[in-house]
Amino acid sequence: MPDPDTHLPIVAPHPWLIDQIAFDCIAHERIVSEDTWFYVLAAASFVESLSDLYTHNLLGHMEDDPEASQWLRERWEPEELQHGRALRRYVETVWPAFDWQTAFDGFCADYRPYCKPELLEPTRALEMVARCVVETGTSGLYGLLQQISPEPVLTTLVGHIRSDEVGHYKYFYHFFLRYREIERPSRWQVAHVLRQRLGVIGQEDAYLAVKNAFEVRNPGRKFSPEDFQRFQHTAGHWARTDYPYEMTVKMLLRPLRLPGFINRMALPLLMRQARRVVAP
Ligand SMILES: [Fe+2]
Ligand SMILES: [Fe+2]
Repeated sequence: MPDPDTHLPIVAPHPWLIDQIAFDCIAHERIVSEDTWFYVLAAASFVESLSDLYTHNLLGHMEDDPEASQWLRERWEPEELQHGRALRRYVETVWPAFDWQTAFDGFCADYRPYCKPELLEPTRALEMVARCVVETGTSGLYGLLQQISPEPVLTTLVGHIRSDEVGHYKYFYHFFLRYREIERPSRWQVAHVLRQRLGVIGQEDAYLAVKNAFEVRNPGRKFSPEDFQRFQHTAGHWARTDYPYEMTVKMLLRPLRLPGFINRMALPLLMRQARRVVAP
């Protein structure tokens, strides 16, 4: 019987465009004084806007796979860059005094050393697992933001981004299945990449993105680990009740291809664990 997972996800026409977002209808009063929202959105706009660098590194890894290369170039990169542009426009519309470009330039200078091609996983199947973890992380983040957004235009925007991220996960998972057949990684190797990637998710990039947004917004003040802890405390508070834990854990478990009953047993345990990690 054919495995339904091996079927290629359908590429629908691009579902939304930045011009369709009603930036002129933003209810400023609902969000303008929310500092944590400012930092979350500015940080997300920086990380998304650096996607050309990640695409470049991944293209080098997948060069002789025409389908993957085409998808990365024509679909993944333009969508990630659109996320960056749309979030930037939202931030600049609500907080016009913020010098986005200067903060982004600072972030690029700080973060580029962490994005070297040699930091990719050694095989394609394992790199696809790592990509699934990243897309699970972004799907979970935007799912959370969509749930708790205080402002309707933002709710629409992060909802669109969330759907794109879930689509990216499905594609990377499809490529994982293809390379799993060829490279046959063990479950242990897959679990190792999952654990390792979960340990670093959102660490350097989130810290450096918030730091650069903070220092440009507060001239003369140095960003400290305590400032980041305060930010994480509020964000963790949001996540405690509204983070999509079940979806996230299911997406993470999928590349392990565990038998159904083990998956069902692992799910509640891992959800408890995920709550401790996301919102300690
Ligand atoms: Fe994105
Ligand atoms: Fe993505």
